[in-house]
Amino acid sequence: MRVLSGIQPSGSLHLGNYFGMMRRMVEYQENNELFCFLVNYHALTTVFDAGLLRQRTFEAACDFLALGLDPEKSVFWVQSDVPEVTELTWLLSNVTGMGLLERCHSYKDKTAKGIPASHGLFSYPVLMAADILLFGGEKVPVGKDQKQHLEVARDIAIRFNNTYGETFVVPEPDIAEDVALVPGIDGQKMSKSYGNTIEIFADEKTLRKKVMSIKTDSTPVDEPKPIEGNVLFDLYALFLSEQEKAALKERFLTPGLKYGEVKKELFGVIWEYFAPYRKERERLAANKPYVLETLRRGAQKAREAGAVYLERARRNVGLDYWK
Ligand code: ADP
Ligand code: TRP
Repeated sequence: MRVLSGIQPSGSLHLGNYFGMMRRMVEYQENNELFCFLVNYHALTTVFDAGLLRQRTFEAACDFLALGLDPEKSVFWVQSDVPEVTELTWLLSNVTGMGLLERCHSYKDKTAKGIPASHGLFSYPVLMAADILLFGGEKVPVGKDQKQHLEVARDIAIRFNNTYGETFVVPEPDIAEDVALVPGIDGQKMSKSYGNTIEIFADEKTLRKKVMSIKTDSTPVDEPKPIEGNVLFDLYALFLSEQEKAALKERFLTPGLKYGEVKKELFGVIWEYFAPYRKERERLAANKPYVLETLRRGAQKAREAGAVYLERARRNVGLDYWK
């Protein structure tokens, strides 16, 4: 099965990205054809500093490789190294109803948060559909926040196929319900654009500070703590087995538990969990030529795979005027 997904290099990658998408992608590479990319064209909707975009793209590549993405088993590249995706975006745009995009809450949420309301931001889901359809992606692992975008991609594929004849695979979303939405330290969805993240590769001091600032309620120490909607519990649970989770729940329900102590413990758990990857991350960051070469080879493979669908689409809409 062809499994495909992308991530924006618009900020440091965080626990939401890891549990919502990255970890599952790494698992999928064992038994599937995995396509994974860094969507820097998408990041242009929110990042207006060229130097920052360059830096974050490289860092995101190091993050993904350090976390176990194996370029021998998968196809890993930077979106803009396969610019054909922008051509496909245009072909798709003409079968994309305005209403479909107007209904997207991601656009509304982002503009409400102060991100400039540009045409790029508005048509973001069409570029995302092109990312998927260009490579015949069958299954798309994403966090729950991307569910609507996946529906848009499916609608576009179906509409295109109905208009021009069978051209694209209609993709299926793959959302892990147990970690569907990782909360940020303020209780909202953890997101690079909301400044509420716990970064995977933060240094010790920053990580400790972030964990210590997780929002908690004011239940007195000698009372049972709520579980429902408890950000600290939810974040801790990400690192636990079912059995360990039940034990943590028991501790929360037993009077006497101090949030501050649980936070210190959680800091230790996160630090240890990523320790082996942190070493690999440092090694990669110090070997830029290797990372760049890996991305270049990935783009080459992606380009070959994409040519099949792009050629078919060009032909089916009638751009082959010489015929
Ligand atoms: P961000 O919102 O931080 O900019 P992206 O939009 O680049 O993150 O998301 C990359 C991937 O990570 C997507 O599949 C997205 O669904 C997933 N993801 C992002 N934030 C979360 C979260 N808080 N919980 C679960 N998955 C998430
Ligand atoms: N829009 C996705 C996000 O913000 C990133 C993305 C771009 C993507 N193209 C994609 C995800 C294609 C899956 C498939 O998270």
